[in-house]
Amino acid sequence: MSTMLEVSGLTHQYGQGERAHVAVQDLTFSIEAGQLACIVGPSGCGKSTLLRCISGLIEATGGSVRLHGDEVSGVPDDLAVVFQDYSRSLFPWLTVAKNVEFPLRWQKVSKAERTRRAAEVLEAVGLAGVGKKFPWQLSGGMQQRVSIARALVGRPALLLMDEPFASVDAQTRGELEDLTRTVQRDLGSTILLVTHDIDESVYLADRVLVLSKSPASIVADLSIDLPAERDQITTRESERFVALRGEVARLLQSPRAQRTAEAEQAGEGSADSAGSADSELTTADT
Ligand SMILES: Nc1ncnc2c1ncn2[C@@H]1O[C@H](COP(=O)(O)OP(=O)(O)O)[C@@H](O)[C@H]1O
Ligand SMILES: [Mg+2]
Repeated sequence: MSTMLEVSGLTHQYGQGERAHVAVQDLTFSIEAGQLACIVGPSGCGKSTLLRCISGLIEATGGSVRLHGDEVSGVPDDLAVVFQDYSRSLFPWLTVAKNVEFPLRWQKVSKAERTRRAAEVLEAVGLAGVGKKFPWQLSGGMQQRVSIARALVGRPALLLMDEPFASVDAQTRGELEDLTRTVQRDLGSTILLVTHDIDESVYLADRVLVLSKSPASIVADLSIDLPAERDQITTRESERFVALRGEVARLLQSPRAQRTAEAEQAGEGSADSAGSADSELTTADT
C-alpha cells in the first residue's frame, strides 16, 4: 500500500495575541491509499480545523500536509470534501445532475462526458433517475447522497468527510454509513472521516484515530479488526464491536485525552472568544 496522506506536526492557531486559540497541536499521522480511516474526538476539539487544513481551505500555522507526496498549498484538484450541512452545500437553483457535474466544469471534460459521469455516480449512491429534480425536492438523506456523489464525480484521490451524517435521522444515518463503505470498496477510494460519534467511527472504519480535547492531539491509533462485511444489527451486537467501542470510549476519557482542561483553566480562550469563533465557523462551512 502506498501512502496517500502524510500530516506532520500540523498545528493551527486562530487569531493572535490575547485572542489566540490553538485548535490543533502537533498532529502527525498518515493514511494509506484505499484506507477508510475515522478520526473521533469530542465537539470543539479541532476536527473541522484539521480537515480544513488538510484540504487547503485554510493554511495551517505550523507543520505540513502532503497528498501522494505533494505538499498541499491551496485546494488540490484531486481532493473532495463532504460537509455536515448538506442543505447549505448544494446549489438550490441547479438540478441534482447539474450539482453533481459542477466540479467537472473546471476540468477538461466534455459536456457529454460530464453528463455520463454524473449519472454514473448518482447510480453508485442509489439515486439513479433523480438527476432532473432539485435538491430541495429530496429528503435530507437523499441530499447528503447528492453531496457524496458530487464529491466522487471528480474521482478524488482522497475524500474528506466532516461529520457527514450528523444532521440526518438514525435510520438514514445507518444507510449512509453502509453506502460509504460500499462506495469505498467499489471505487477503491481513500476516505478520512471525522465524527464525534464513537459507535459510528468503529462501525465505519478500518482504523480509528482518537483525538484529545482541544487543542487536538492523537491519543491512540486503533486498527479495527471487524469483518469487512458489516451489518447495522449483527456487527453492532458482536462482542468485538462492543469491546472496540468500549476501548475508544475509555481512551476518550483517559487523562491524556482530557489533559488540556488544565490549559483551558490557565486562561486560554475565553467563553466570549469561543462564541464568536463558532459563528465564524458556521459561515466558513457554507
Ligand atoms: N474561524 C475560527 N476562528 C476562531 N476560532 C475558531 C474558528 N473555527 C473554530 N475555532 C475554534 O477552534 C476550536 C476547534 O474548532 P473545530 O475545529 O470546529 O472543532 P470540531 O470540528 O472538533 O468541533 C473551537 O474551540 C472553535 O471555537
Ligand atoms: Mg466540526
